[in-house]
Amino acid sequence: MTPLIAGNWKMNTTVEEGVTLARAVAEATAEARGVAIAVLPPFTHLAAVRDALRGTAVAVGAQDVFWEDSGAFTGEVSPLMLRGLCDLVLTGHSERRHLLGETDEQVGRKLAASLRAGLRVMVAVGETEGERDRDETFSVVDRQLQAAFAALGDAPPNGSDVVVAYEPVWAIGTGRTATPEQAEEVCGHIKVAVRAATGIESAQVLYGGSVTPVNAASLFAEPSIDGALVGGASLKAADFAAIVAAAAPAVAG
Ligand code: 13P
Repeated sequence: MTPLIAGNWKMNTTVEEGVTLARAVAEATAEARGVAIAVLPPFTHLAAVRDALRGTAVAVGAQDVFWEDSGAFTGEVSPLMLRGLCDLVLTGHSERRHLLGETDEQVGRKLAASLRAGLRVMVAVGETEGERDRDETFSVVDRQLQAAFAALGDAPPNGSDVVVAYEPVWAIGTGRTATPEQAEEVCGHIKVAVRAATGIESAQVLYGGSVTPVNAASLFAEPSIDGALVGGASLKAADFAAIVAAAAPAVAG
């Protein structure tokens, strides 16, 4: 499976800074082979970043989406509106779940609406530190995945349209990366859970949480980790490109 390295810029950069960063990412990753690359800028930047990246191998994604196609939902952005601006959409990021109260059920509705609109969807799941301490990691991840896929009803998704990002909340922005063993254990579990829920034989599963150029290669060496969802390090083109490069040999070798 071609690894995917996706940069979640979160609420960072102005439009102008985002365009500059996107161009720098394209340039710094131009030699990369055997790796899929995406950047996820804020909604406000999507058109400009899409234009800046035209003709490059860097895809564009959105950080969130709403579950209705149109209507009286002030401030929201629908999957239909994203069509043509980006190919990929992230849903279920823990910052939305924990800071904004997004529920498992809402994440499922967003997944379903985005697939209906022809977008590829990355569903983020992961446990808090307290949940890990109580040995609830698998049950939390299972609950989040089951709720997400339940929203699809009897329509199984195409395997290439769904990516799962395992992001332990305690590892996000903390510098406390999960060890390769911890990440592998949960990513492997996620593959099995997604197979049971959807029939997708081997879903693409990324790890996210304090991924850096230093720890990336050891994470990618694990068999169930098919790439990374990168936060902080994706804001520096050189660091992001080094993470992309670390994913390439995993394919070649
Ligand atoms: P950091 O890489 O900054 O820990 O963020 C991870 C993340 O939340 C990506 O979605």
